[in-house]
Amino acid sequence: MDMKTVLVAVCLLLVSPITGHWWAVGSHVVMDPTLVCKKTRRLRGRLADICKKEPALLKEISKGVAQGSKECQYQFRNRRWNCTNVRRSLKKVLMRDTRETAFVNAITAAGVVYAVTRACTMGDLVECSCDKNVKGRGRLGVLSPDHAHAATAAAATPASGAAAPGDWEWGGCGDNVNFGYRKSKDFMDAPYRRNSDIKTQVRRHNNDAGRLAVKNHMRTECKCHGLSGSCTLRTCWRKMPPFRDVGNRLKERFDGAAKVTPDNDGHRFQTEGPTIKPPGRADLVYLEDSPDFCRPSRSTGSLGTAGRRCNATSPGVEGCDLLCCGRGFDTRRVAERVNCQCRFRWCCEVTCSTCLVRREINTCR
Ligand SMILES: *[C@@H]1O[C@H](CO)[C@@H](O)[C@H](O)[C@H]1NC(C)=O
Ligand SMILES: *[C@@H]1O[C@H](CO)[C@@H](O)[C@H](O)[C@H]1NC(C)=O
Repeated sequence: MDMKTVLVAVCLLLVSPITGHWWAVGSHVVMDPTLVCKKTRRLRGRLADICKKEPALLKEISKGVAQGSKECQYQFRNRRWNCTNVRRSLKKVLMRDTRETAFVNAITAAGVVYAVTRACTMGDLVECSCDKNVKGRGRLGVLSPDHAHAATAAAATPASGAAAPGDWEWGGCGDNVNFGYRKSKDFMDAPYRRNSDIKTQVRRHNNDAGRLAVKNHMRTECKCHGLSGSCTLRTCWRKMPPFRDVGNRLKERFDGAAKVTPDNDGHRFQTEGPTIKPPGRADLVYLEDSPDFCRPSRSTGSLGTAGRRCNATSPGVEGCDLLCCGRGFDTRRVAERVNCQCRFRWCCEVTCSTCLVRREINTCR
């Protein structure tokens, strides 16, 4: 299918009132999760359950959305599109299906998995608790906790602690990631449940890629027991990776995202060229090329880069050349008082003097 056909398809979708409604709901999921419950006219199924019966869960979902948004801003802090949550911009980004849309949806879905799972572990939700499904014990070196979990943990890290021989058993309070995964899916995918058009496919795929960035990268943590830390017995549990790792992983997927087009019956997507390998479940996919985000634009939601700080010597995306889109930049010299020559004095005090440092601040024209 050529680009023109895709554009026509996309435009048709845009004017379809039903899809339009679901889209609005879809962007509420990211911008204000509690609005989903208010704006969805006929709440049904699992989404209805969450909205009506599980206010504590809804609160964790909102926290997850906020965590996703914060991580998005960190990952894109030095780029032209900086994942701003200025509503008029974000709304437009969420209506499209660019790489940026893919990332926002994925990191949001991941944030929801994360927050809900953590709430389970902390005992903040009555619906769930620690993961009690992993049971059993073994001898280190014969069957390590990581091997036991090889099927569910694609990239488990080696158990921490000394590699001394000894027994281990599952214990402690493991992260119940399957519950978080399920609830993230119930909530995030609800607007897209009944549609099978290409945009819906892409959104569901990217949401899932985000969830898998947490679920497929669980770690094993262990604690030693035994006389004076001899580690004759260890208890181990499953733990989510730090959310920063999830963000980094999804950022890599953003960089390698695959452009897809609808296949002949329009219900599935395929990669553009026959040579590109089909995207896996954990990869991000997109339908439209991104705008350059250089200038403010009402239609794309770009805020432009004028006034953004840039690095005059860097050749990368944060460098003034790229960030300012060739418009040039202004340089300001500032002097700042900072703590310096700090010394640790026994015990327990740190003394510093103040120094004046001069810095150059470059901002895009
Ligand atoms: C993101 O970029 C916009 C304009 O491009 C700017 O106004 C805003 O301050 C930036 N946000 C952050 C967190 O840097
Ligand atoms: C600017 O970029 C250069 C080269 O990449 C780097 O060494 C330097 O630390 C950067 N400066 C700031 C203020 O980030």
